[in-house]
Amino acid sequence: MIQIGILGLGTVGTGVVELIEKNQVNISKRIGDHINIKKILVKNINKERSSLVEGKITDKFEDIVEDEDISVIVEVMGGEEPALTYIREALKRGKNVVTANKEIISKYGKELLKISSANNVNLLFEASVGGGIPIIRPMKQCLSANEIVKIMGILNGTTNYILTQMTEKGESFKDALKEAQIEGYAESDPTDDIKGFDAARKTAILSSIGFNTRITPDQIYTEGIENINPVDIEYAREMGGVLKLIATCKKHEDNVEVSVTPVLLKNDHPLASVMGTFNAIMVEGNAVGRVMFYGLGAGKMPTASAVVADIMEAIKNKNGTKVHCTCYNHLNVMDPGLAMSSFYLRLRVLDKPGVLSKISGAFGENQISLSKVFQKNTMNGTAEIVMVTYDVPFKNLQEALSEIKAYKQVVEISSVIRVEGES
Ligand SMILES: NC(=O)c1ccc[n+]([C@@H]2O[C@H](COP(=O)([O-])OP(=O)(O)OC[C@H]3O[C@@H](n4cnc5c(N)ncnc54)[C@H](OP(=O)(O)O)[C@@H]3O)[C@@H](O)[C@H]2O)c1
Repeated sequence: MIQIGILGLGTVGTGVVELIEKNQVNISKRIGDHINIKKILVKNINKERSSLVEGKITDKFEDIVEDEDISVIVEVMGGEEPALTYIREALKRGKNVVTANKEIISKYGKELLKISSANNVNLLFEASVGGGIPIIRPMKQCLSANEIVKIMGILNGTTNYILTQMTEKGESFKDALKEAQIEGYAESDPTDDIKGFDAARKTAILSSIGFNTRITPDQIYTEGIENINPVDIEYAREMGGVLKLIATCKKHEDNVEVSVTPVLLKNDHPLASVMGTFNAIMVEGNAVGRVMFYGLGAGKMPTASAVVADIMEAIKNKNGTKVHCTCYNHLNVMDPGLAMSSFYLRLRVLDKPGVLSKISGAFGENQISLSKVFQKNTMNGTAEIVMVTYDVPFKNLQEALSEIKAYKQVVEISSVIRVEGES
């Protein structure tokens, strides 16, 4: 009998308890042993809980970490502290640890994997990226013969739901966010999701594994979706595309490019049809080519699916060789100003002769060529100009836009969005 302890009994913790109960027979056959949840740590010991956890609840971490019988500790409480201290303590005491905590793994993964290695225990975190989608183990194991050259992903279900609502129903960002909150897809404080911080944490974990180099969230150029306007979605549609919040990780000769930004994807791009709360990750290896991983990136049972599989892996592997830190490279993160991309731009200018040629001049001085220019709605003596550039370093575009912004004929630069050309 394998005794485990769980830290946290919220959405994911409850899913873990229910899944172990539901699939116990097959789980036992697959690992050759029986899993027993011995103790569960919660914050509020007086909360009403399901009968499945009767007699197991504690509000003292020591009850779990000091229990010699417990060999696997599952951290599903979330947040940085005290979860980080608890994980460190558990690993130091020789317990295997399974966590769903992207905040901790993206920032402290290196340190924690060092402790797990020193103590010859497993530290597994499949649920920290893509919820129920298997991605970490496939990248570390099944794709390990490849050099990964590119990873692109939709890693946040909340923002994908909001953008889908805006696309399908023509809703404003504000209304789509409100709807996501009512449906339970967005938190009351949605900052981490809509500003791209949650996706950046997952991108840090994915790119670290993919390129075997340590990348932390603060190194990732991040833009959110809060400034996306339905007008941009409509223009994207006219151009045969959709707007998505995309994690982009590219391996260059001696550095890596990593970003989380809204991107105008052409409709034939594999990520363009990923709708609602679904997530998807496209990985490109130099032997396998492109592979896609698709599924629910959050939720009680999808996330529990990944957590329980990690518990089973830790049990199967308790006496074997563990997979520890795989970041043996020391690659620099590319200055985001040097990253090449095509861009979609929307400007409002005075509807007067000569304005367009002035703007074109600023682009020309900064070696920017335009592949599309069209003038749209005129309103109160102003006109909307929509342009798409050819590939250009981001800093050239920023330089040109800061010149253009100073022109008195330019009312506002309304949108600047990357375009992913290739399908
Ligand atoms: N929810 C998802 O779909 C999902 C998907 C992927 C990854 N994750 C990750 O999984 C983790 C858990 O998420 P969740 O949605 O299940 O969280 P949650 O519903 O908020 O549950 C948190 C649980 O942890 C307990 N807890 C919080 N602080 C504690 C403390 N200081 N001491 C003891 N117990 C404490 C709470 O106790 P009480 O019950 O007493 O309040 C609660 O049971 C997070 O790292 C999250 O990022 C979640």
